[in-house]
Amino acid sequence: MTDAEKVVELAKRRGYFFQSTGAYGGVAGFYTFGPQGAALKQNVEDAWRDRFTIKEGNFEIDAPTIAPEAVFEASGHLDGFDDMLVECPECGESHRADHVVEDATDIEDAESYPIPEVEELIAEYELVCPSCGAGLAGQAVTEFNLMFQTNIGPGSSQPGYLRPETAQGIFVEFPQLKEYARNTLPFGVTQIGRAYRNEISPRKSIVRVREFTQAELELFVDPEEDEPDLEAVADVEAPLYSAEMQDAPDGEATTMRIGDAVEEGIIANDWVAYYLGRAKEWYERVGVDMDRFRFRQHLAGERAHYAADCWDAEGLIDDDWIELAGFAYRSDYDLSKHAEYSNEDFTIFKQYDEPRTVERATVDPDMSYLGPEFGGAAADVADALQTLAERDRTAFDGDTVAVEVDGETYEIPTEKVGFSVDEVTESGEHITPHVVEPSFGVGRALYTVVHHAYREDEVAGEKRTYLALEPEVAPTVVGVFPMGDDVAEVAQQTAQELREAGLSVTYDDSGSIGRRYRRQDEVGTPFCVTFDADPEGTATIRERDSTDQVRVDVDELVDVLTDLRTGDRTFDDL
Ligand code: GLY
Repeated sequence: MTDAEKVVELAKRRGYFFQSTGAYGGVAGFYTFGPQGAALKQNVEDAWRDRFTIKEGNFEIDAPTIAPEAVFEASGHLDGFDDMLVECPECGESHRADHVVEDATDIEDAESYPIPEVEELIAEYELVCPSCGAGLAGQAVTEFNLMFQTNIGPGSSQPGYLRPETAQGIFVEFPQLKEYARNTLPFGVTQIGRAYRNEISPRKSIVRVREFTQAELELFVDPEEDEPDLEAVADVEAPLYSAEMQDAPDGEATTMRIGDAVEEGIIANDWVAYYLGRAKEWYERVGVDMDRFRFRQHLAGERAHYAADCWDAEGLIDDDWIELAGFAYRSDYDLSKHAEYSNEDFTIFKQYDEPRTVERATVDPDMSYLGPEFGGAAADVADALQTLAERDRTAFDGDTVAVEVDGETYEIPTEKVGFSVDEVTESGEHITPHVVEPSFGVGRALYTVVHHAYREDEVAGEKRTYLALEPEVAPTVVGVFPMGDDVAEVAQQTAQELREAGLSVTYDDSGSIGRRYRRQDEVGTPFCVTFDADPEGTATIRERDSTDQVRVDVDELVDVLTDLRTGDRTFDDL
């Protein structure tokens, strides 16, 4: 068994995660987090909230998971959120065509290839169906939209979609959210919640699933003025695998200071650099092994439809790098799209320090000419003339001026347009903010944390399996073990006091002490407290990884264990 397989087995046996609805045969891509997994997930989310909402001074929202079609028409997901599908002619099973290519060849980014090229590769390498082994050459590769569709209300007149990213729930509410931010940039909005993608072939346990939890931050900035506090992360050392390094024959990730990576232009966008630094610290904090972690820049063909630049955080599981988070510079793409498709204002009014006198080109078309001439299109022609005046004054130099409306060209004598350039004093301007987006997969963080915490060793001549989880995220912080009936009362009372202090506790009075330790080791409980009769008034705290033990006064247990969990004291301090 690989470590990945052992962890998946342990995860099911010990209540971390398992495939859902097993009683009905199960459905690929849906997982239930058991008691340990749900607690670990909550702790990972709390750690994320602490870093990316609270410490960054952002605010968090909670939007619906279903939105009407218009939202995803505007966002581009209806048209562009597709994967490549190839169907087996023998067994009828559907597969991701790019994965079929990647799994059987050295090609790592087939996702970025055009469909005809993927079809050619399938034929050239004589690739076969991963389920039944039948040849796939000659099969059509098609686009498959990943959104789950539903109907809002009875009938099918109002289609809706389960959100494929939590981000859109933030973007569509920008007109309201900017008011809460007092119309001042920069401001950041976070959301932790479920998202849905109808994956063609879910795989790798909870890595590629159809329902998952995202933790996303959308930071709205003025691209001309706002800058991150790069100093705060300049000294963070991170393994970077840029597009250039990936393209080089023997290129590999290089660990460097974030400050140096910005200076050398390896990370082009300062905001993205800032969040890479913060993310590196965060992943380390929750227990991702930094020797199995890197940031990889997207290759040009790999970028999402909205992204101007994008880096992924990746974690190594066995020999497989999996994507943990994306850091995208989304520019003004999303807000401009929602402005175009809705009736709302997605800009912010940017006040100048001093009023400015500027030249403004305007039109005042003669509607008594446009109306009879262009009928129902007259108002749109007038709007198009104003837009043209703002964009290109020279278009009004000739005797006629031409504009395009709904694909049709309209020619208007310039004398009927009322074109003029006037000086006006302005106190500010409306700008469309740009968006910087760190987007984290919560399940993938959890999966990596559990994998990287997996250990096997030997204690007192016996093989032991344990999870070296960080106390901050461990689902259970303390195991409490009474050794005999005469200490049961004090053990129970202490367990309750620890719970009242906010620590999660498992009380276990069955089996030998060795078995009790093993059970807690396997779920990653960092500390166990054993009560025995002698000496009175003390108990033993045992640390999971070293298995070292220390005696502590019972009266001090709550303070000591609270400090051990927060890191204010280490076990060595005791
Ligand atoms: N919001 C980015 C993503 O879902 O991939």
